[in-house]
Amino acid sequence: MPESEFKGGAFEKAQERGQKIKEKLGKIKKKIAVYSGKGGVGKTMVAVNLAAALAKKGFSVGLLDADIDCPNVFRSLGLESKGAEVDENGDFEPEKKFGIKIVSVSPFQKSEEEATVWRGPLIAGALVQLVEHSKFGELDYLVIDLPPGTSDSPLTVMQVLQPDMFVIVTTPQKLAVLDAKRSANMVKRLGMKIAGVVDNMVSEEFGKDSRLTEELGVPLLASIPLKKEIREAADNGIPAVLEDKELALLFSNIVEKII
Ligand SMILES: Nc1ncnc2c1ncn2[C@@H]1O[C@H](COP(=O)(O)OP(=O)(O)O)[C@@H](O)[C@H]1O
Ligand SMILES: [Mg+2]
Repeated sequence: MPESEFKGGAFEKAQERGQKIKEKLGKIKKKIAVYSGKGGVGKTMVAVNLAAALAKKGFSVGLLDADIDCPNVFRSLGLESKGAEVDENGDFEPEKKFGIKIVSVSPFQKSEEEATVWRGPLIAGALVQLVEHSKFGELDYLVIDLPPGTSDSPLTVMQVLQPDMFVIVTTPQKLAVLDAKRSANMVKRLGMKIAGVVDNMVSEEFGKDSRLTEELGVPLLASIPLKKEIREAADNGIPAVLEDKELALLFSNIVEKII
């Protein structure tokens, strides 16, 4: 690149952005990423309820929907994507509900049903922008709902956000466990910490125990049953922990183990 282009400030700008993100993340005491290899195993359910359970205990909590392709957090909390108010710097306030500060690409999407067909670098760019411009302020915990898989997009989240710990979600079904193992190995390879495993949708249908904790050498944080009330709460836009006593107790235990 010719020197004159450097003088245009591109390098300085990139450095400035990096600094801004660092400062932002510096105000967050702990970042917990909820992750799994497979989609549909309950990551969003766990992320939403973990955030609600932490807020219920009196912590200041943020929830970042890092699933750019299929953002589900807004819907799960009964929020509508009605556009975001962005200030002159491009910064915006998170939505607030159930004592949680929520950030997602949802309010920036034209239509909720539109498919986000983005290539890797664009997804990464969107995520970085989202973090860069959201005004989370001081937080005790930021819960991050990660996209599934072990490709570009979760990797970017990990590198940009540097979560302090990961909660791995899986159903006890063999295929889900295999994918969860892959994602857990990716976390380990990056030298990051796994807080434990949540077995979800435990039932006759999906199985009783993933046995993933033994293989990974990490604690079992909870074994959550397949339960109509959990799905209904999500469909109604309410964290199930606020309505279902059994789930409230399970998440209270997860919180104890994590903090
Ligand atoms: N333990 C459970 N019992 C019943 N339904 C569940 C349970 N966990 C999740 N669900 C439902 O299953 C669907 C997929 O869960 P979701 O959290 O969106 O998965 P992911 O984020 O991993 O793709 C959602 O409709 C959710 O409400
Ligand atoms: Mg999800």
